[in-house]
Amino acid sequence: MNAPAVDLAVALGPLRLANPILTASGTFGYGLEFAHLADLAALGGIVSKGLSVAPIRGNPPPRVCETRGGMLNSIGLQNIGIERFLAEVLPGLERFPPRVIVNLFGVSVDEYVRLAERVDAVSGVAALELNVSCPNVHSGGLEFGQDPEVLCALVRAVRAATGKPIVVKLSPNVTRPAEIGEAAKVGGADILSAINTLLGMAIDPVTRRPRLATVKGGLSGPAIKPVALRVVFDVARQVGLPVIGIGGIETVDDVLEFLLAGASAVQVGTALFRDPTTASRLVGELAARLAADGVGSVRELVGAVRLPA
Ligand SMILES: Cc1cc2nc3c(=O)[nH]c(=O)nc-3n(C[C@H](O)[C@H](O)[C@H](O)COP(=O)(O)O)c2cc1C
Repeated sequence: MNAPAVDLAVALGPLRLANPILTASGTFGYGLEFAHLADLAALGGIVSKGLSVAPIRGNPPPRVCETRGGMLNSIGLQNIGIERFLAEVLPGLERFPPRVIVNLFGVSVDEYVRLAERVDAVSGVAALELNVSCPNVHSGGLEFGQDPEVLCALVRAVRAATGKPIVVKLSPNVTRPAEIGEAAKVGGADILSAINTLLGMAIDPVTRRPRLATVKGGLSGPAIKPVALRVVFDVARQVGLPVIGIGGIETVDDVLEFLLAGASAVQVGTALFRDPTTASRLVGELAARLAADGVGSVRELVGAVRLPA
């Protein structure tokens, strides 16, 4: 049987992808670890684990636990640092077609700027995704993504440091995510991604101890999908930047929901822990589904939710 004649290509501002399925930061290692299990070539993009100026060892265990319909994690942004990533991982990833997006974080504006400057001239990096759910040491530990003015200044500084497309990853742990997205837009962001994990906790009733060593952690997986969908819907309509939807995506129906809500692409995260082939399989399943439904281009679905009159 011939491949269905469906156009899966998407353009998110300056970022062009062969298809709208990416892997989410921190849930697919650095990508290469899964080359023998998943069809990396099928993916539209791979988002790196969060990278910092210097390597980070992360939090003590236990740092993941299952919850009903999801999981909690407090990995603590463990990573090998930007230099090792560029020297040891990126050359391997560049052999595959998916666009590589580096997920970056810091504890000060200066650290984000240094990371952006470092990757600016690196041809294998297609875009930067800023994880702004990190405490800012100069704001008494408040996260960058929780204050519109702080976020706007951060994005503006990163904008001045790089010509590459900037994705700002929104946190759901704020009252009005669209307001934060608007601030990112004013600062010069090209794309928004939503959502990062929701702050949560779990307790073992037998030992009476928190299930995570850090007590609280980030909730992800199917349990957060309705929240993610609502944030994507609001942000896409109110901010007007292209949006990448993230949160609990496992099936082709999930992908369709996010596209209809206004996302131009999606990232698959926690589902990869159960089956690392989920994201690459979804590419073929999406093409087959659109062909079966007589939809010629994935772009026709973006924001096409039918709202009550
Ligand atoms: C174990 C784990 C590690 C993560 N690490 C990062 C990270 O380093 N940077 C980041 O921006 N998001 C990180 N995330 C958040 C995911 O990229 C994603 O936004 C979130 O899990 C929601 O999607 P999901 O429900 O499909 O997992 C991590 C999530 C998990 C579960």
